[in-house]
Amino acid sequence: MSTRFEGFQYRNHVLELSGVNLEEIAAQVGTPFYAYSADLILKQFADLDSSFGTQDHLICYAVKANSNLAILKLLAQAGSGAEVVSGGELFRALAAGFSPDKIIFDGVGKSREEIEYAFSKKILFFNVESEQELVSIDCVAKQCKKVAPVAFRLNPDVNPKTHPYIATGLRKSKFGIPHKKAGEIFKAANRLKNIQIVGIGCHIGSQIVQIGPYIESIKRMLQLYDKYKEKNFPISYLNMGGGLGITYKNEKPPSLQAWVQSLIKEMNGRPPKILIEPGRALVGNAGALVTKVNFVKRGESDNFIITDAGMNDLIRPALYEAYHSILPIRYKRYKKIKASVVGPVCETSDVLAFPRRIQNFQQGDLLSIMSCGAYAASMGSQYNSRPRPPEILIADGKWHIIRERETFDDLIQKEKIPDFLQKKMGPHIAVNS
Ligand code: LLP
Repeated sequence: MSTRFEGFQYRNHVLELSGVNLEEIAAQVGTPFYAYSADLILKQFADLDSSFGTQDHLICYAVKANSNLAILKLLAQAGSGAEVVSGGELFRALAAGFSPDKIIFDGVGKSREEIEYAFSKKILFFNVESEQELVSIDCVAKQCKKVAPVAFRLNPDVNPKTHPYIATGLRKSKFGIPHKKAGEIFKAANRLKNIQIVGIGCHIGSQIVQIGPYIESIKRMLQLYDKYKEKNFPISYLNMGGGLGITYKNEKPPSLQAWVQSLIKEMNGRPPKILIEPGRALVGNAGALVTKVNFVKRGESDNFIITDAGMNDLIRPALYEAYHSILPIRYKRYKKIKASVVGPVCETSDVLAFPRRIQNFQQGDLLSIMSCGAYAASMGSQYNSRPRPPEILIADGKWHIIRERETFDDLIQKEKIPDFLQKKMGPHIAVNS
């Protein structure tokens, strides 16, 4: 029996992802764990890539969505580029085998060390968000007697109609250079000898489920392109960012094809290479977080299904009141009750599902929290000293551990007891002694 999530189906009443039984994985690795389907990720990438037809383009996968090395390698081997926002992400992207000339570096607060690192690796370009950043990059390039390729992230002041915490293209946002100041930053760049302008672009937000905001932003970008190309600013790349949404509940985002085709239509044959930076749309619905019900608790006024995964494993509901569908791993005729699904973390906001009509899950049941391929593991933490869960990649009907479950030793691995505490250590030390 199929579910409404592509790639997830019940066989003999047990949920499978791309043909692999999730209950069997749980029996081997324990819970919680993340499971991803390589087939689904590759299919999304191939669909997106082929949507461009003959249009010159580069897809730079947003590493932050899911930065596991194996996921990165899968996409690098499929021909993707990478969009990174930190030295750490750049390190991962290079370790996974992305070609440096397909890596772009975004972010409002790049450190000097990060700029030097990226420059030494000869990435495709820096996406610059302020004049001070531009000067820093020029300085590093000057030291090396080379020229740094830069694109400008412009803020088109377009409402992406998404959750305010993940909207980035509004005037009040910290991101990008106001589109009205494009001319000023171009001139500033031209005065710097070690800077070469290669592109412009924008990223207006995330989990965008309408095409309108993209059309509005590309129109604005193309106005700037048309204006400045006449003034001899060489713009080879037009970067339209990422942000295309997925279905968590009943959203109906445009298809990958519709998204790309609408951009190409607006380009109307103009020469720049289109670059996009999708994260969630490639990996979000290719993964789930599998967790076990530890207890079911009937509170005075609310019912709680308490799982062994918590906000440290999936913070999206706590952070954005995000909705994630939940499917039982073993399909039964459950009654529906009104309940919250919560984790074991000592925080009221440790919620995976806010009160809703949900199956009357029982102690020991395994649940699949859907749409956890993006911004789940990558936003995970060890809060409450909870070791991070393992990540599993399913490919060709087999499963592979792509990140081991952390151990208690991992929790304290980098911590140190300074000398003054070494002497006094021990349970015999009384408080205030
Ligand atoms: N490019 C830039 C410059 C970005 O800032 C982002 C995401 C992306 C691309 C990829 O966006 P995507 O295609 O994945 O929507 N943690 C939030 C999402 C934050 C997105 C931050 N930037 C969430 O869980 O919904």
